[in-house]
Order: sequence, then C-alpha cells, then structure tokens
Amino acid sequence: MHQKRIGLLTSGGDCPGLNAVIRGVTKAAGQLGYDCVGFLKGYEGLVDPVCYVPLTNRNTSGILTRGGTILGSTNKGRFAATVGVEQRIAIDPALLEGVRHTVEQLGLCGLICVGGDGSLAVAQQFHEYGIPVVGVPKTIDNDLSATAFTFGFDSAVTCATDALDRLHTTAASHERVMVLEVMGRHAGWIALYAGIAGGGDVILIPEIPWTFDDVCHKILHRESQGKRFTLLVVAEGAELPDGGFVAREFEQLSRQTRLGGIGGVVAAEIERRLHRETRVAVLGHLQRGGPPTTFDRVLATQFGAHAVRLVHQQRFGEMICYHPPAMNSVPIIDAVNRLSRVDINSDAVQAARALGISFGDRPADQAGMHLNWETASV
Ligand code: F6P
Repeated sequence: MHQKRIGLLTSGGDCPGLNAVIRGVTKAAGQLGYDCVGFLKGYEGLVDPVCYVPLTNRNTSGILTRGGTILGSTNKGRFAATVGVEQRIAIDPALLEGVRHTVEQLGLCGLICVGGDGSLAVAQQFHEYGIPVVGVPKTIDNDLSATAFTFGFDSAVTCATDALDRLHTTAASHERVMVLEVMGRHAGWIALYAGIAGGGDVILIPEIPWTFDDVCHKILHRESQGKRFTLLVVAEGAELPDGGFVAREFEQLSRQTRLGGIGGVVAAEIERRLHRETRVAVLGHLQRGGPPTTFDRVLATQFGAHAVRLVHQQRFGEMICYHPPAMNSVPIIDAVNRLSRVDINSDAVQAARALGISFGDRPADQAGMHLNWETASV
C-alpha cells in the first residue's frame, strides 16, 4: 500500500481557479514526496464506481490559466448536501463507508475537497465519519463566512464588470434602462462589487429590502439631471418587494431551488410604470467560465499549497481560509454553519451610497444622505 498519497476532488458548481488549485496541490505535494490522485466528477468518483486519475506534473502542466476543472464536477447526485438557507442533508451511511473503503484501498493519507458550502458540508460529514479530509473554499458567490474571499469570485466580478461596461455604451446610445442579472445565490457580493466597478446606478441585493418606487425614482432623478439612461445590477437572490424569490424550479437532483429571472421581472415593472425602453441581460454561466483572473490564480495556487500543508500536518477537518494577507485555517464546521452576506453598513456599501448609487431602499435625492460612516469599519 502506498503511504504518501493525497486524494483531491473538485465539487459543486465549477469556477475559474479550480485547475490552479489542482496544479498547486500536485506541485506542492510533489515537493514533499507525496503523489496525488484526482477523483472524477466531484464526490461521485469516490465510490461505486471509483473513478480517478493520477495527477502528475506532466498532466497538470499548463492548466493554471484554464477555466473549469480537469477533474469534472457536479452539484447534483448522491452527495448533494445543501446547507445555507436550506438544510443540511445527511449522506447515506453506506456511501460514507464506501468512501472510507476507497481511501483505505488507495492508501490515501488525506483527501482534499475543493467546494462551496454544500460540498464542504459533505467534507464535514466525512470528517465526522473518520475520513481524513481537508477543505478548500471555492465559489463565485463569495458566501463562505470563514474566509474573506473565495477564488472564482474575482473572476465572476470581472466578467460582470465587463458586461456592464458593454451595456453602458449601448444604454447611453439608445437612452435605455438596462438591467443586468448576476449570480450569487442568497448573497449580493457579485452584484455589489460589479455594480461599483462597472458604474451601476442601482444595485439590488438580497441583503437590502428595496421598492419599485425608489428604483423608478432613481431613474427619474437621473433624467432630471440630464442622464437619459440607467444601469441596474440585480442579484439573482434579491427578494421582490412583496416577498419571495424569483426562481426557475426546485431541482430534485441538487436539492436546491434554482434561482433566476428577477432581471426580467424588474425590467417589466420599470417599463410598465415609466414607459421607458428597458432591456435585460442575464449573465448566467458566463460568470463561471473562462480563465481565472490574476487574483484568483494567486489565491487558488496558495489554497492548493496550503491544503497540502494541512494534510502534511494531519490537521484534518480543517479548511484553508484567507484573511489578507494571511492564509489560515478553520474547522470546516465553522465554515459551513452560516453564509457570508453583504454587511449593509460595510465600507463598500457606504462608499456606493456616497457616490449616489441607489440600493432601491430610499428616494434617489436622499441616496447619499444619512450615511452611516460611524458604523463602518475603517
Ligand atoms: O453557487 C454558484 C452558482 O453559480 C450560483 O451563483 C448559481 O445560483 C448556481 O451556482 C447555478 O447553478 P447551476 O450550475 O446548477 O445552474
């Protein structure tokens, strides 16, 4: 049996930077004398049938810049363990036993699980079952509370910002209202950051209740200042003023509600109320594809290297986390217990308000008033 072997898998929705982690783990493990295997299609590859490939310097060479994951991934199937606003779901004990068997058979001294909150909730259950796991946080949504940033987020924001730049010119040319719907599930990080970076006029996020009156007021207020177009960024998880998410369907396989469609609802209501030409763009999975940004390459590579360190130090049940400039770790259980959502008194929100960006929660002529600077952290 091989004694110095590390297993690795990528689970949940993909994002830019996963391949950088795979490369980082493989290289760092090699330096310490470990060899690596990568399981295919997330947790599915661990059992029934076991599917894995050896990871070497040769087959991970050149993948740093590539989006997606060479190992494949899924956010559905036998290991879907939703957390967040939905509940944790227990993994079938027969599957857990199968995973332990695989780990023993392959002589793995550690299993590195790269995933978001649902996937890390699975890793936590592995840990509780005695399987030696280490977690690496990944999601474009940036909604894991134990780390300041997850890789994938910066790439998604960059994509959404680029979309806003493009919408800006066409909105201005046609004097239209443009609504950009972005991902993020129940956190407004992507909408907030892209909205600020892309010069959005209105940002609607799940954390701040908003009204159509105030959104329309902002559009009219801009017009009164001679600005005959408006850019709105709407997070897919922003709740409608009368309550409720706009969702496509409940997916049995992922055991999650699939959000999406709020951009169209917002655009239609603006048109109905103001009779202004309004268009909607849903960015969708473009945010998850393509090469990682420089920031995400650095973050993902560091996560990979430090995950190997955790395995080497046998600090199982822990997840790497980033609190700039330091790489630390926390118990996985602390990372999956609560979502990180936008703090409505944060510096970023305060700065946006100071610029006159509307969150749809107050009349536009008061957007910058009542700034709560004293509660913002410095
Ligand atoms: O969690 C990442 C994410 O991209 C969310 O922002 C989005 O709601 C969801 O995944 C989309 O999932 P799927 O790939 O199943 O459509």
